Amino acid sequence: MLQQKILVTAALPYANGPIHLGHLSGAYLPADIYVRYHRLKGSDIIFICGSDEHGVPITISADKEGVKPKQIIDRYHSQNKEAFERFGMSFDNYSRTSLPIHHETGKDFFLEFYNRGILNEKHSMQFYDEKAKMFLPDRYVEGTCPNCGYDEARSDECENCGALYQPDELKNPKSKITGQTPVLKETSHWFFPLGKYQKRLEEYIDEMNRKYGWKENVLQYCRGWFKDGLEDRAVTRDLDWGIKVPIDSAEGKVLYVWFEAVLGYISSTKELSAMRGEPDLWKKYWQDISTKYIAFIGKDNVVFHCIVFPAMLMAWNDGDKAKYVLPQNVPANEFLNFEGKKFSKSRNWGIDVSDFLNLFPADPLRYTLAANLPESRDTDFYWKEFQLRNNSELADILGNFINRTFTFIHKHFDGKVPARGSLQAIDEEMLKVISGYPEKISKLFEAYKIRDGVLEVMNLARAGNKYFNDSEPWKTVKSDKAICSTTLYVCLQAIYTLAELMNPVVPFSSSKLFYMLNAEKTSWDNCGFENLQEGHQLKMAEIIFPKIEDDIIESQMLKLGKKEETGEVKETGQITIDDFMKVQLKVAQIISAEKLEKSDKLLKLKVKIENEERQIIAGIAKSYKPEDLVNKKVVVVANLKPAKLMGLESQGMVLAVEDEKGSLNVISVGDPVKTGTRVR
Ligand code: 2FM
Ligand code: ZN
Repeated sequence: MLQQKILVTAALPYANGPIHLGHLSGAYLPADIYVRYHRLKGSDIIFICGSDEHGVPITISADKEGVKPKQIIDRYHSQNKEAFERFGMSFDNYSRTSLPIHHETGKDFFLEFYNRGILNEKHSMQFYDEKAKMFLPDRYVEGTCPNCGYDEARSDECENCGALYQPDELKNPKSKITGQTPVLKETSHWFFPLGKYQKRLEEYIDEMNRKYGWKENVLQYCRGWFKDGLEDRAVTRDLDWGIKVPIDSAEGKVLYVWFEAVLGYISSTKELSAMRGEPDLWKKYWQDISTKYIAFIGKDNVVFHCIVFPAMLMAWNDGDKAKYVLPQNVPANEFLNFEGKKFSKSRNWGIDVSDFLNLFPADPLRYTLAANLPESRDTDFYWKEFQLRNNSELADILGNFINRTFTFIHKHFDGKVPARGSLQAIDEEMLKVISGYPEKISKLFEAYKIRDGVLEVMNLARAGNKYFNDSEPWKTVKSDKAICSTTLYVCLQAIYTLAELMNPVVPFSSSKLFYMLNAEKTSWDNCGFENLQEGHQLKMAEIIFPKIEDDIIESQMLKLGKKEETGEVKETGQITIDDFMKVQLKVAQIISAEKLEKSDKLLKLKVKIENEERQIIAGIAKSYKPEDLVNKKVVVVANLKPAKLMGLESQGMVLAVEDEKGSLNVISVGDPVKTGTRVR
């Protein structure tokens, strides 16, 4: 059978802050579940993401901290990449829009449109900060939304109601740089004529909806924009951080972040091609009409993925170059709130993914978020619900079914798959129930009803417990061992099926369960049948889902809304695991080392942490010859605030211990350990 070719993208998060649970629920978790499911189906699928590293949110963060944008994106790109990995996101590539390959892609699209006369140059009025002497694009201006009255609206777009408007329509504008009221001043920009594509866009969305069933919330947003009528959109900005507009007359202008960010999906796939040594791989997905392209996003990104990006691809496809596929579906989710309110860093409301994962494993979080995805309306994360889902569902239903079955088999059947005797009605019924689940869940996942699909996995575990109870093996083990044996045989087939079906949702636990079963995954379509043979040896059972105690949940609830503790060491001198985990100790490889002329103590090191290069000024010159350090893998503090030493920036610290002779010994690790690995 021909494998279905699928391209899945998840919105590229801005590399200007840590990702929180809301991001996961909006786009990333549903996308990951969908992709993992399709891999088990045997689809030919790639999963693309990366950091969005341009745009005003990044320059604003950089200005606030008094650092260069590059420092912000390097920090958050690696932090977010690591948080995603720990959460179990299975991207094929997590790229960055600051890479040359992306700049090239962005420029290609601009030039293609420019050369074909698609873009119009227009003189327009833009906010200008007279004190800072600069034009203020988008989010450098905050004011009151002309549509809904939200008072943190941006100059041309409201995050609250999704309205797009012209800068002069914003009420009470204020510059975010100086706090002054900005003036409107003339500048010139290139505009993409979105309005010209409106009819085709409406037809495209109608057709996709007819064929593939788009989500009602997404259609509603699109209809809203069509009703208002699409207007020309500027694709350039007066800024110096971003992709330079590739024409001579555009000094000081960069591409509008949204124009190029959506193209980041293409460049991330190009990077993947290069990494895999298959230069044409990206074309196989992007430029072949048999590809099913699904774009997972949160609701705030709908206009860009359902209107702007498709219009850009249509414009490109009207030319004579190889044509791109358009999204077949854009299953956008609504938002996740936190304990009844919006996530807010400044009000300490919510929790970052990495902080969460320092406290709990990823799977209970994945399950809780998945069981409560904001698919049709906003939902909330509650600490108590998290505890309940873990303790009463993962532990008491799924974990209990696995545990009681394994314990029973180890006790009465030497830990081997018992024989399948003659089937009673109850056994036949149960085998039938098991075999129906993969398809039932498939249908839901394929219709982007991820939440319902996840809840069905738990229903199979419920059915397993009921079957176990109704079959009373603790009685039949004494009265009729053949019946007992069949019961446990059937329970194990259910557990095998569960191991596979739960894989997309709780992949770490699924791997543990396969290990306990001493078995491998099969295909999704085959997992509901009798896959474990009589006599097959099982491993010992372990508790896959430990319970979460009240006190740990309560202490998290108490922290909410309060100023974060400064991490000061209490009188006892003890720190919490949270305090410790704040220090990111990572393995780095020294690529070069040189003496500093004016210092006999300091060495200038260049180190590599994954793909990132850093300069570290280390006080180890008296203990090491520079050449002896090269290639060594050492432990560094990776999130230390950069400091200047002898006028040179040091971006981290190398750990070392002093020996009896007062000589320093860097803490080094063996070669198999990859750079970037966290030391815990
Ligand atoms: O909303 C955001 O976080 C954007 N950075 C999403 C970009 S999605 C795509 F266009 F890259
Ligand atoms: Zn609004």
